[in-house]
Amino acid sequence: MTASATPPAERRLPRKGRSRQRDRAPIEDMTAPIITRRLSKRYGDLVAVEALDLEVHAGEIFGLLGQNGAGKTTTILMLLGLTEPTSGGARVVGLDPRRYPLEVKRHVGYLPDNVGFYDGMTGRENLRYTARLNGLYGREADTKIGEVLDQVGMTDRADTRVDTYSRGMLQRLGIADALVKGPSVLILDEPTTAIDPIGVVEILDMLRGLVREHGLAVLLSSHLLVQVQSVCDRVGIFAAGRLIGVGTVPELAERFGDGAATIEVGFEGLDRAGLATTAAALESVKGVIEVHAPAKAHDPFVVLAKPANEATAVREAILALASSKGLRLSSIREAQASLDEIYRQAVSTRLQTGVESAA
Ligand SMILES: Nc1ncnc2c1ncn2[C@@H]1O[C@H](COP(=O)(O)OP(=O)(O)O)[C@@H](O)[C@H]1O
Ligand SMILES: [Mg+2]
Repeated sequence: MTASATPPAERRLPRKGRSRQRDRAPIEDMTAPIITRRLSKRYGDLVAVEALDLEVHAGEIFGLLGQNGAGKTTTILMLLGLTEPTSGGARVVGLDPRRYPLEVKRHVGYLPDNVGFYDGMTGRENLRYTARLNGLYGREADTKIGEVLDQVGMTDRADTRVDTYSRGMLQRLGIADALVKGPSVLILDEPTTAIDPIGVVEILDMLRGLVREHGLAVLLSSHLLVQVQSVCDRVGIFAAGRLIGVGTVPELAERFGDGAATIEVGFEGLDRAGLATTAAALESVKGVIEVHAPAKAHDPFVVLAKPANEATAVREAILALASSKGLRLSSIREAQASLDEIYRQAVSTRLQTGVESAA
């Protein structure tokens, strides 16, 4: 960050929302590259974003997760100074994007949800164009472009025309485009939508590497919760313009999950009668609250254990049970709660307690 060349960091922001006092240990880091306080946007009667309190730190990937229409893009546009908040405010690299949109854009790489390039030009030529817009020319630009193409794994295809690129390659080029100016913050709107699963994994791995090597702060939005849960250090669950939970995936699972752990247990050589007696035996294990026998003999049983932090003890008890009953265990593993499940829980919890939480 080039603090000396930029206007002085502004410190005064609206006070953090009172509703956030319900959240566990809210972070109060005024140096975070992205901060919002009570950030709100209305379109007429429609509340697109309501009283958003958020912090994204250097060196972390923060996932803003929510269904279509949740307010993700609106939030991002306010962070970039591309749309005005109705109330509340934001600081991006210490600056109010409403007052210093150009300064903010200088430090923030942005991949829009519908990234567009000049079709008739190659990837490298497109990046040269972006470099020029950012005041980079000649050898300096070429060096930087070579570097970012390498970072996103597009060196081999850099000199072919963009209209021959796959969707995944376009997204990579989009990220390269956002990186050309050497930003300290990266904002990616739905970076993995419409990409095949392998492409998604590659792009997310690449992002992880970028954060590890360069300590960027990354905010990414997605409505595909499962896709990004592995890459985000923290996620914010966004529904109807409101942030209803922030934390790591395990934290959110604990908070919004139903407090049960899911253990999958596979056995070999069970016939129909064997499935029934095994189910009964599993039910007798201390801490097990539910047992779902598989429809097909080779599929695992699904065992719910409560409380979740006793899951290890339950697994050990199942191992002991298998050996005492002569059952041939083929697999045992604890299934991680997926963000999709957490999201559904969080939204329904929120609906049930909405009035109270909004107070
Ligand atoms: N320019 C606009 N005028 C009116 N309504 C808008 C405008 N932009 C977005 N909205 C509405 O605001 C809500 C949030 O939209 P958006 O931020 O695009 O959500 P997301 O990116 O999470 O899908 C939606 O209901 C959308 O229809
Ligand atoms: Mg959007």
